[in-house]
Amino acid sequence: MADATTTRAATMEKIVALCKRRGFVYPGSDIYGGLANTWDYGPLGAELKNNLKQLWWRTFVQRRRDMVGLDGGILMHPRVWEASGHVVNFNDPLVDCKTCKSRFRADHLIEERLGQDAAGKTPDEMSAILSQANLPCPKCGNRTLTDARQFNMMFRTTIGPVEETGVQVYLRPETAQAMFVQFKNVLATSRVKLPFGIAQIGKAFRNEITPGNFIFRDIEFEQMEIEYFVHPDDGADAFERWLADMRAWFGRIGVREEHVRVREHAKEELSHYSSRTVDFEYLFPGPMGWKELYGLANRTDFDLKQHQEHSGEDLTYFDQPTGARFLPHVIEPTFGVDRTFLVVLLDAYDEEETVDVNGKPDTRVVLRLHPRLAPYKAAVLPLAKKPELTEVAKTLFDTLEAETGALIDYDETANIGKRYRRQDEIGTPFCVTVDFDTLQDRAVTIRDRDTTNQERVPLAEVAGWLRERIV
Ligand code: GAP
Repeated sequence: MADATTTRAATMEKIVALCKRRGFVYPGSDIYGGLANTWDYGPLGAELKNNLKQLWWRTFVQRRRDMVGLDGGILMHPRVWEASGHVVNFNDPLVDCKTCKSRFRADHLIEERLGQDAAGKTPDEMSAILSQANLPCPKCGNRTLTDARQFNMMFRTTIGPVEETGVQVYLRPETAQAMFVQFKNVLATSRVKLPFGIAQIGKAFRNEITPGNFIFRDIEFEQMEIEYFVHPDDGADAFERWLADMRAWFGRIGVREEHVRVREHAKEELSHYSSRTVDFEYLFPGPMGWKELYGLANRTDFDLKQHQEHSGEDLTYFDQPTGARFLPHVIEPTFGVDRTFLVVLLDAYDEEETVDVNGKPDTRVVLRLHPRLAPYKAAVLPLAKKPELTEVAKTLFDTLEAETGALIDYDETANIGKRYRRQDEIGTPFCVTVDFDTLQDRAVTIRDRDTTNQERVPLAEVAGWLRERIV
């Protein structure tokens, strides 16, 4: 296993280039010159992202008896965001440069340029620190930064045909709220008993002041979130159990332990709803270093209490065995889909020094994705584009698709070496080659992506062989 810091092949630049070259992620609105910090997932990216979301859903919803799913809307009643505290609290401290008009997060400037801790500081306190340091604009160098002011990160839009008289609503900045707002309906319709969780996967939107680092900080992104409802006395224990369950997830997606650490939030840093938060941080290569990947928060009864007060609906839970009625507390494990996608690629990316067919030094790029996540589980490759081979290969392709239910690639172009390299680079775990011997021995060669070892397997057994290795 590679060492965390010394022998890592992946850089952000290489991953961005690979994503574009192979159709994982494209810049959004590319033919119009792009729209800054928006991205579209291409054919292979869409497959990888779907595989990730399906695995998460199977792991945390379908395989657990204490979880149910929800698929809430992006638009919600505007009072939801008043109750949740987002209208007042979901702000980032912003400074502008009067000369070049660039915008920066005041807390990031203080932390990154001055090396001081900005957690919990008010905009006035941050302004005082910045003006005392007389910090130049990081973009143009002029000492013309404004004071810090709060900037609400929710995107607004209007429902109704006439903008002036329409209802102003927000694009949700987190998926979490639907799970609180629908708590009562879920209780009434799904026979759940405490402790239980509601999970959902969906888009969230934030008008980030400083998006960037590829898909790490987007203005439109996806979250996989869980609101886990417990008796008020059980919050601390449930928090520990979720900490362990979140750790175990990294093994399922092939992210190395040494690239992940847990960081406890200081009191001043806690969100307005949280009594305890830890971040799972990932060691990104290069200057990014350790950055938040996932979060785990104890939201107490903050949200249910707020929604009860603002909606006037009783959101208490009736505990049949004890006859007690109370507002449950909530533990919230939250996972960003796009960040997961990025770290899975970073951890899977590898380069091997080798020699090409002419004996010249060459580099083999290989994406060592877990077979569960790989876009294609196998590729069927006739050795040459000859009808006697392609006929057998196409029949095998149809059989594998039908009998494994997995996505299989078929490629008869270019020389076999080039085709192997392409499959290595997109993470296909197995290449199945139909050659001239196949016509006699009714067997094929299966090449393993990671070892490049080859195995001869009878045609009739390929589907079963593959099924065993891709779950
Ligand atoms: N419901 C709690 C919540 O939304 P958060 O820490 O603000 O908490 C949860 O976001 C996760 O969503 C993060 O850990 C990260 O994985 C992802 N995330 C947050 N902002 C993001 C952004 N601008 N771009 C991509 N992913 C983001």
